[in-house]
Amino acid sequence: MDTTGITVKWWICIFLSTYLTFNIVDSSINNGVPKKTYIVHVDISAIPATYTDHLDWYSSLVKSVAVSPEGVDEKEEEQRVIYTYQSAFHGMAARLTEEEAERLEGQNGVVGVLPEVRYELHTTRSPVFLGLESQDIMSVWSDKLTDHDVVVGVLDTGIWPESPSFNDTGFTGVPTHWKGACEVGRGFQKHHCNKKIVGARAFYRGYEAATGSINEEKEYKSPRDQDGHGTHTAATAAGSPVHGANLLGYAYGTARGMSPGARIAAYKVCWAGGCFSSDILSAVDKAVADGVNVISISLGGGVSAYHRDSLSIAAFGAMEKGILISCSAGNGGPDPISLTNVSPWITTVGASTMDRDFPGSVKLGSGVMLKGVSLYKGRRNLSPKIMYPLVYTGSNSSSPDPVSLCLEGTLNPHVVAGKIVICDRGISPRVQKGQVVKEAGGIGMILSNTAANGEELVADCHLLPAVAVGEKEGKAIKQYAMRDPHPTGNLAFYGTKLGIKPSPVVAAFSSRGPNFISLEILKPDLVAPGVNILAAWTGSTGPSSLEADKRRVGFNILSGTSMSCPHVSGVAALLKARHPDWSPAAIKSALMTTAYIHDNSHKPLQDSSTGRPSSPYDHGAGHINPVRAVDPGLIYDIGAQDYFEFLCTQGLTRTQLVVFAKFSNRTCQHSLSGPSDLNYPALSAVFPEDKRVSTVTIHRTVTNVGPPTSKYHVVISEFKGVDVKVEPSILSFTKKYQKLSYKVTFTTKTRQPAPESGALIWKDGVHRVRSPVVITWLSPL
Ligand SMILES: *[C@@H]1O[C@H](CO)[C@@H](O)[C@H](O)[C@H]1NC(C)=O
Ligand SMILES: *[C@@H]1O[C@H](CO)[C@@H](O)[C@H](O)[C@H]1NC(C)=O
Ligand SMILES: *[C@@H]1O[C@H](CO)[C@@H](O)[C@H](O)[C@H]1NC(C)=O
Repeated sequence: MDTTGITVKWWICIFLSTYLTFNIVDSSINNGVPKKTYIVHVDISAIPATYTDHLDWYSSLVKSVAVSPEGVDEKEEEQRVIYTYQSAFHGMAARLTEEEAERLEGQNGVVGVLPEVRYELHTTRSPVFLGLESQDIMSVWSDKLTDHDVVVGVLDTGIWPESPSFNDTGFTGVPTHWKGACEVGRGFQKHHCNKKIVGARAFYRGYEAATGSINEEKEYKSPRDQDGHGTHTAATAAGSPVHGANLLGYAYGTARGMSPGARIAAYKVCWAGGCFSSDILSAVDKAVADGVNVISISLGGGVSAYHRDSLSIAAFGAMEKGILISCSAGNGGPDPISLTNVSPWITTVGASTMDRDFPGSVKLGSGVMLKGVSLYKGRRNLSPKIMYPLVYTGSNSSSPDPVSLCLEGTLNPHVVAGKIVICDRGISPRVQKGQVVKEAGGIGMILSNTAANGEELVADCHLLPAVAVGEKEGKAIKQYAMRDPHPTGNLAFYGTKLGIKPSPVVAAFSSRGPNFISLEILKPDLVAPGVNILAAWTGSTGPSSLEADKRRVGFNILSGTSMSCPHVSGVAALLKARHPDWSPAAIKSALMTTAYIHDNSHKPLQDSSTGRPSSPYDHGAGHINPVRAVDPGLIYDIGAQDYFEFLCTQGLTRTQLVVFAKFSNRTCQHSLSGPSDLNYPALSAVFPEDKRVSTVTIHRTVTNVGPPTSKYHVVISEFKGVDVKVEPSILSFTKKYQKLSYKVTFTTKTRQPAPESGALIWKDGVHRVRSPVVITWLSPL
């Protein structure tokens, strides 16, 4: 085996161990029997007649399976049920042993018992470049506060209410439909809610059950945001305009949420030790009861199947109540099949760049100058007139090793003191590498991408002068540093640059499709700005999030699908304000069919990881276009029963289906001939392995939300592998809200080894209603 193989194995090993540790949900051990939190879904219609209150029923269900050894604290036994849920779905979160959980699953009325899952925030904890579209978005929407009655619920790390982004000057009273609350706790009082932050709650019972009581000295056991992430996402969705916002002078301008007039309800579900599904579900449940219109969730956990994913189940219940749920797609890209939050009733958002950049450069003693990015701003700037000694502690410029990664405790101060240190990206947080170099006496850092990140750059707010460079530049710098007996270099920083081309570009980290649970539902749905996003920040943590970082800033620059998700949540809030009667599916359809797939140099949208045009598995329907989404012409509507019919095509058992039918006695009407017939605004034709099947037909129905009398004709891409026929090819509407159906027949000419993609567009001369199309031929394994 060659060294590459060994290195790869080593990386995988580290990756897996980090990943596994992260996902194990701790259990508490009482009397030698470990208990964990389980989410118990119940069929409320099965409640025995002997119970008048479902809470009594729940606790008796738990008692009936509980094994309580002699001498166990009775009080503790009573606290086994930590949450009950009733708005988004029916059930509870309970502390059970594995054996008890198994027994509970067999009880009458219990339709699912799912273990607690730990979720992670979808920020890359670092910034890069960005800028353009959102400026346009913002100027169009700027001071039209038509979105006053819409409430965006943000499930995150809480909120920093003092931020000027939550200034409520000019707002009218709290919307009459709002039933939420302002929960008080350390650092958060009633007056911290206002006409902008109309609700704030904290959910920690699942967290405390898993990790022990919150140390209130160290952590605010209240909606107050210590981490910054929740303040950033809430402000991105619905922050009020703040002039002169910037991070240490970078990205100077007006910071404004996508829906500056909408209200915010903060649901704190993430704590220093993680985010737990029982808490997240309780937040969704409360948000539904409180009356939010949009729920924004920049978190993700494992996906296995729709009925095993508690968030998916809760989202279904929220959708039934007319609430749009927008979630981050995950930062697992550019690997394929790396998506989270893929349920069709969720809007799944990937990330793209903007046209703003923060250039920096590295000058080498050899005279070579290489470009990178930086957000460094400090008093200890390097003198531009001096060349400083440079050091790379790795032994091979093309394959990183533990020392070259600048992990904690690996740098020898005798080697690095007074020098600019070259560190490889990976394993430890980027800003932490900077801290390691600084503590070892280094005076600057060059952070080099490896093959895993290619040329996609991430600018961070490092504690010392630092420039991030791409893999190619990094290799050149490392080779110079290893070959030259006395390597020298210097770093330079150029502030903020706008008008970067091309942009947007799909971010390398943005999670990719296909949707492995159902190939017939194309995911992600959309991309939105998620790289180098400037938004409000907490006053309790520095911009690098390192404990050693004593700087305090009002705004921070972050990247991740965590940042793109609230862009879509905010725009959805605007559409909801403009079209209060639209369903969540109608709003999502408007966002998707008006999205664009070109960049600012009029070329096809690119994938940052390859530099080639991106595909619908990378960008879904494309990049959001809020201005056009207000007037989409046609929409693809989907009702709750339609989504349920989709589930009926997914091979779920009756009991598994009941999990989604808890408010109604929904049953399968078998109105869909297959999953691809769900009236989704994207089309995915899947040819089975059986080569005799050469035709796939997909049905769709569009609703006219444009002028009453409109005539649309269809345009569809050409495909190598199939002939496509759309019938009818003209849709003539005579009324507003009229529905017309069409069918698309795909006939295989030659089976293709890789999926083919294109688009189907309905045009009336004014509107372009575009659906991405993907065709897949399954091959025998
Ligand atoms: C450096 O790593 C590359 C790729 O892993 C490998 O091909 C090469 O032989 C290594 N060189 C040395 C000097 O170890
Ligand atoms: C809120 O905004 C108003 C109007 O822009 C301004 O006068 C006021 O000072 C702001 N308040 C705070 C606390 O920033
Ligand atoms: C069940 O469905 C039937 C027929 O749609 C309806 O009449 C009935 O009210 C439903 N029952 C409940 C409990 O929703």
